[in-house]
Amino acid sequence: MPDNLVKSKELKVALEAALEAGKILERHLETDIIKSMKHDKSISVLADGESEEMIKKIIFEAFPEHSILGEETGMTGQESDYVWHVDPLDGTRNFAHGVPFFCVAIALEYKGELRVGVVYNPATRSLFYAEKNKGTYLNDKRIFVSKDGEVHSMITVSRGKKPSDEKLFRELMHDLPIHNSVSIRDFGCAALDLAYVAQGALEADVQLGLNSYDFAAGALLVLEAGGKVTALDGSPWKFPDNHFIASNGIFHDVLVAEVKKQKEKLNHE
Ligand code: IPD
Ligand code: CA
Ligand code: CA
Repeated sequence: MPDNLVKSKELKVALEAALEAGKILERHLETDIIKSMKHDKSISVLADGESEEMIKKIIFEAFPEHSILGEETGMTGQESDYVWHVDPLDGTRNFAHGVPFFCVAIALEYKGELRVGVVYNPATRSLFYAEKNKGTYLNDKRIFVSKDGEVHSMITVSRGKKPSDEKLFRELMHDLPIHNSVSIRDFGCAALDLAYVAQGALEADVQLGLNSYDFAAGALLVLEAGGKVTALDGSPWKFPDNHFIASNGIFHDVLVAEVKKQKEKLNHE
C-alpha cells in the first residue's frame, strides 16, 4: 500500500474539521483559559464549545443529511445511519493546565462500523487518521503498532465516571504491573492514548466506560495500524461497547487474564 492513501471525501472533511478546531484550541491556549465546572464536577473550558461549533459547521456543510453526536451539544442533524462522534477537546484537564497532551477527536460510524477516525493534537502538530481497510497514518506517514512484548511495555488505563469503573481503575493502576518493567499510566486523554497505541509508542490501552466520542476515532486508529481490540474478557469487541482492551496484539491475552483477575476480585460486571 502506498504511503499516501487516496482519501475519501469523508476523511478529507474530518481532517479539515480537526485542523480548524485545532486552531481554535491553540488560540485559547495562548490567551487566558476560562474554566468552569460541569454538573458532574468535570472541568469545561470555553474552547470546547467553539471547537465543536466549528467541527459541526464543516461537517454539516459537506454532509447536511448526516447526524453528529458531539460531547457539548449532544445528537444533532438529520436522523441518519451516518453518525459522527465528536470530542472537540479531549484531555480538557491537561489543556486547562497548559499540558500539551490533548486533542480533537472525530470519527464517522455507519451502522455500527467505524469508517473514519481522526485525532489531532495541535500542540505537537500530530495528525493521526485512519480509514476502514486503508491503514493508519500520522502526518501522512503510515504507522503500525509496536512489536514489543510485556517487557518494558507502557500501558494506559482510561476510566469513565461510574464508581464500579473507578474501583476497577484503581485496582488496575495498582496491581496490573504484570512484570516489573511494565509501566501503567493515566495520561488523561483517552483518544490520544489510543493514537499512541496505533503509533507503537504505547503497547496497550484499557478503556473503562467512556463515551463513544472519547474512543471511536482512536479505536479505528489501533485496528487499522494492525492492533487488536477486544472486550475486557477477550471476546469480540463491537462499537460502541465502552469497556475494551486495545493493544499491539502481542500480550493481549496476558492482559485479558490480568484484567479478569482484578474484575473477579471486585465482582465487577
Ligand atoms: C476525559 C479524558 C480522560 C478520561 C475522562 C474523560 P474530556 O475527556 O478522555 O482520559 O479519563 O474520563 O472525561 O473531559 O477531557 O473530554
Ligand atoms: Ca473526552
Ligand atoms: Ca471533551
